[in-house]
Amino acid sequence: MTEKLLLAGVIGDPVAHSRSPRLHGHWLRRYGIEGHYVPLHVSRDRLHETLRILPELGFKGINVTIPHKEAVLQIADSVTDRAALIGAANTLTYTAKGMLQADNTDGAGFIENIRQYTPGWSASEGPALVLGAGGAARAVVSALLQDGCPEVVLVNRTRARAEALRDHFGAKVQVLDWTQIPDVLEDVALLVNTTSLGMTGKQPLHIDLDRLTAQTIVNDIVYSPLRTALLQAATAKGCHTVDGLGMLLHQAVPGFERWFGTKPAVDDALRAAVLDE
Ligand code: ATR
Repeated sequence: MTEKLLLAGVIGDPVAHSRSPRLHGHWLRRYGIEGHYVPLHVSRDRLHETLRILPELGFKGINVTIPHKEAVLQIADSVTDRAALIGAANTLTYTAKGMLQADNTDGAGFIENIRQYTPGWSASEGPALVLGAGGAARAVVSALLQDGCPEVVLVNRTRARAEALRDHFGAKVQVLDWTQIPDVLEDVALLVNTTSLGMTGKQPLHIDLDRLTAQTIVNDIVYSPLRTALLQAATAKGCHTVDGLGMLLHQAVPGFERWFGTKPAVDDALRAAVLDE
């Protein structure tokens, strides 16, 4: 028997930007676990063979980032219901026999983040307005519906992409245009930005918030900057706001627990470690 190290990592192309090594590294140190979490830069044409060899090297699992989140579903031996519904995976786990299970924890991370800063909150409290219809929006819409949200209003620059999500998720999803946002703002319990607008280096998010009331919880999945212009404007309106960093932190919990055997805490020390440049 060869000695097997406790290993996990993140696979992507590019992967240098990923904050996951810092995040998992913090937890490994904090819990005194003798393991390693490494970034793996792997191109699409080497993805399949890489994922097959990793368990032989001692890897317990892998996080998946851009652009492999969809492709890994074809490679995995089994896919969880939520990953199949979202159409992408971010957390891969090797079974004792080296079989590859694909899961998606992004949506659960999104819900857990809001719940951590809004104790007792449930998506069933009222309709949600979701900006964007990309990969992140798929995870968010899926999680909102799963958590009992009665209606998801979807708004996207490219309307056809929002309509594709409605066709996928069903009649609880309603598609509107950007210009119609003011018409629904007063009625939504939650407003979520899943677009990249407002991120450092990207275009600003232009949205008419005149009719936003203090009853709406506002969440931005952008976390760089932490306090986006959307969150600042919502705070000025008296809204409860939740920044996007926690979604990144919470989506990592199930993977760490499965691979390293300890359920890790999402707390201020972790936030500081991940933000520390
Ligand atoms: P992710 O997986 O992070 O969601 P994505 O699939 O590329 O990334 O989706 C990015 C989202 O941001 C989309 O909703 C995109 O709108 P389009 O579907 O119209 O492309 C939105 N987005 C990005 N840049 C935008 C811009 N300049 N104006 C409006 N929406 C934008």
